[in-house]
Amino acid sequence: MKGEYYMTKESVEEYIKLAKEVNSLQLIEKLKTYLTPNSVLLEIGSGPGTDWKVLNTIYEAIGSDNSAEFLKHLTNENPTGEFLNLDVITLSTDKKFDGMYSNKVMHHLKNSELAKSIHRQHNVLKANGIICHSFWKGEGSEIFKGLFVNYHTKTSLKENFQEYFEILLLEEYKEFEEYDSILLIGKKK
Ligand SMILES: C[S@@+](CC[C@H](N)C(=O)[O-])C[C@H]1O[C@@H](n2cnc3c(N)ncnc32)[C@H](O)[C@@H]1O
Repeated sequence: MKGEYYMTKESVEEYIKLAKEVNSLQLIEKLKTYLTPNSVLLEIGSGPGTDWKVLNTIYEAIGSDNSAEFLKHLTNENPTGEFLNLDVITLSTDKKFDGMYSNKVMHHLKNSELAKSIHRQHNVLKANGIICHSFWKGEGSEIFKGLFVNYHTKTSLKENFQEYFEILLLEEYKEFEEYDSILLIGKKK
């Protein structure tokens, strides 16, 4: 991710206010079909921590982000939680996980960065590990609030992930408008 948004105190406070109404329960319900409760789950790009709070009631959820400001917020709000400073491209950790979850994070990666990330995700997951990621649906890319945004289709996601993951679910859903988003759930090959 290039750009300062998510990195400054002001923009992080703004994002937390804007994302207050975001409800990801539909994604987490789908994940529960494939990943057993109490599994060790890494969340990438936890941001405000809304999803992490729900995930942590079901799983042994470890949150993460590459923004020091978001990590400060996550730790202050959840003093007993575990949060790692991780970039989704490199995932520099020796820990291994049963599952990995991200909600609207990897659209900030260029295609070459996404390819690196998928390889690393495969490495840090245990055998048969599950991934559950959401993306904005569309074609091409743009800069929004100074951040790179890469849109995906079901076809482009399948092409990117299928070498390392068996695709278990790939479906469009509504975040703000009908079919503006895509959910991908996969199992480590
Ligand atoms: C759109 S927000 C989504 C946050 C949260 N998942 C939600 O649904 O509210 C994107 C989050 O991903 C984080 N992020 C962006 N690029 C990242 C990267 N390369 N590695 C890890 N986290 C990243 C940002 O700091 C931010 O917290």
